[in-house]
Amino acid sequence: MNRKRLVAGNWKMNTSLNDGFQLLSDILENIKEADIEQSDVSIFAPFTHLKIFQNSLNGSGIKLGAQNCHHEKSGAYTGEISAEMLASVPVEQVLIGHSERRQYFGETNSMLAQKIDRALENDLQVIYCFGETLEERESEKHIEIVTRQLEEGLFHLTSDQMSNLILAYEPVWAIGTGKTASAGQAQEIHAESRNVIRGKFGEEIASSIRILYGGSVKPSNARELFAMPDIDGGLIGGAALDAISFSEIVKA
Ligand code: 13P
Repeated sequence: MNRKRLVAGNWKMNTSLNDGFQLLSDILENIKEADIEQSDVSIFAPFTHLKIFQNSLNGSGIKLGAQNCHHEKSGAYTGEISAEMLASVPVEQVLIGHSERRQYFGETNSMLAQKIDRALENDLQVIYCFGETLEERESEKHIEIVTRQLEEGLFHLTSDQMSNLILAYEPVWAIGTGKTASAGQAQEIHAESRNVIRGKFGEEIASSIRILYGGSVKPSNARELFAMPDIDGGLIGGAALDAISFSEIVKA
């Protein structure tokens, strides 16, 4: 099965609008059309940056995404951003279920399932993030936890909806810690996740869905990770804030 690699930068809560615009310009200078033929590229920018980035990215082949959306359609949720608002920018993609949202904002699998529904209603492509904490891995519960995150977040979807989703495995203990999962550790969970998807949605979807790895991906380890049979690219945090590092990962 030929799955096109995707390298996505998650900028998290970083950069002022000016600094962000400069970073985006540097990225655009470093990533060429030929790179995008080899690998899809997306940038998940802060909400405040989206409109201006949308103008700059137009025609570049790089996709624009947001890092979150609310699970309700609209209403009295001061400070929140709906999927419909994102689609009106327009952005094409949205991250749902990032571990920082789960950890610091109490987002549960069932809330994330609702967010996915809102995103899909607005034709946004979802990158659904999942992954275990260090404690869960050390107590050997990681497979069970990851399976539950996939089941509770995704199993209500139709096959049609599922076929357009992207997954991102991000072990919490590897995020921003400099500690990467070994290529073997990541491959194990990716293969297992693909099995979970296969069990529910069948072979065609399981073999075509892209599963990204995230957690301290750098130019120095990207190639080894991306060479694994079930790893279809990366979701990059820290290294995505440096135009050279990010473009090196895209080219890895
Ligand atoms: P780091 O690459 O900084 O570890 O972050 C990974 C991540 O959370 C991407 O969403």
